[in-house]
Amino acid sequence: MSPQPEGIRGATIVGTGMYVPERVLTNRELETMVDTSDEWIVERTGIRERRISAPTQASSDLALIAARRALETAGVEPEQVDQIIIATTTPDRYLPSCACTVQSKLGATRAAAYDMFAACTGFIYGLSIARGAIGTGVADTVLLIGVEQLSRIVDYTDRNTCVLFGDGAGAAVIRPCAPDEGILSVSIHSDGSLGELLEVPAGGSRRPASHETVDRHEHFIRMKGKELFRVAVRGMEDSLRRALDIAGVRAEELELVIPHQANQRIIDATRERLGMPAERVIMNIDRYGNTSSASIPITLDEVVREGRLKPGDSVGFVAFGGGITWGASVARWTMPVPAGAPARAATVASATTTVPRS
Ligand SMILES: CC(C)(COP(=O)(O)OP(=O)(O)OC[C@H]1O[C@@H](n2cnc3c(N)ncnc32)[C@H](O)[C@@H]1OP(=O)(O)O)[C@@H](O)C(=O)NCCC(=O)NCCS
Repeated sequence: MSPQPEGIRGATIVGTGMYVPERVLTNRELETMVDTSDEWIVERTGIRERRISAPTQASSDLALIAARRALETAGVEPEQVDQIIIATTTPDRYLPSCACTVQSKLGATRAAAYDMFAACTGFIYGLSIARGAIGTGVADTVLLIGVEQLSRIVDYTDRNTCVLFGDGAGAAVIRPCAPDEGILSVSIHSDGSLGELLEVPAGGSRRPASHETVDRHEHFIRMKGKELFRVAVRGMEDSLRRALDIAGVRAEELELVIPHQANQRIIDATRERLGMPAERVIMNIDRYGNTSSASIPITLDEVVREGRLKPGDSVGFVAFGGGITWGASVARWTMPVPAGAPARAATVASATTTVPRS
């Protein structure tokens, strides 16, 4: 994606919010469910615990709380929202969309609303769509939400996958700004030939739900972890470099990078290839695991509330996921530091110790 052409408005994040369910599932608890250990999970993934939704909660319930918090931070009323985009792999149901459910509960009476499937890269794809809509004047206010209830599609008898995933929601309100501020670049990609590295085999039009698909656990995530690992590192590095090039920003100029929280080792490998110091690459995977499209907006909201971004800072977002999809974005931050945020110097490298908001 090229820089915004002449005469096109810029688009910037003016409010963020997040929500994670209260229930914590620890590695120790997983030890009682499958043949695994806390040591193995921490060493191979960096995850210590993840959040799991209550049986009564659907994705739209999580999304709604994150959305309200983002709108409140932005000082935007629901009636002012023009579009609600929800990046998710786990909508409440296939019809109606999760976004329409949120639109109704939020009272966003003017908003168009739709779901978007790009798996863990969903938030970056969403930034691209929001930037396009705002840049061309199709929308003035976009509410972009990443929400997942991966616990609903994880097989808790499969140790290869059940240790990785968690539930949560993150949201961002996006509005117009000067062309040289806000989202400076987005670089998004896909390779469907690698689709089976991460899939839910049944439940769609190819293999509709049947007794047989349920018996065979085909409504759960299946993953080829090792192969994914390799393409993830390459895709994240390439797309962030490309987004930096388009934005005209050097890697060392990035104040922070917010990566999709897939695996601590994937992020470490990507970070080393980019030559970035660890304290600039924000991780909270130890507390939430992999929350797919929600992981970047959750992490962003924590960083914003900690006062770690100030106007003028350059920030990078980078992700990869099922499809396969991958991508990155570079933004020049415009949001003021929220009142009451701790002084920035005191919070550097503290993102992994924050008490989560529930
Ligand atoms: C899944 C992942 C953590 C596995 O780590 P790894 O170092 O590649 O581990 P391997 O696949 O080589 O497995 C090593 C051994 O551990 C075992 N193992 C797998 N999961 C385990 C678990 N939870 N506990 C204990 N052992 C486990 C494997 O069965 C294998 O045993 P074997 O050698 O007897 O066959 C890693 O490949 C990964 O993170 N991949 C990317 C996944 C991802 O990000 N998916 C989401 C995309 S958004």
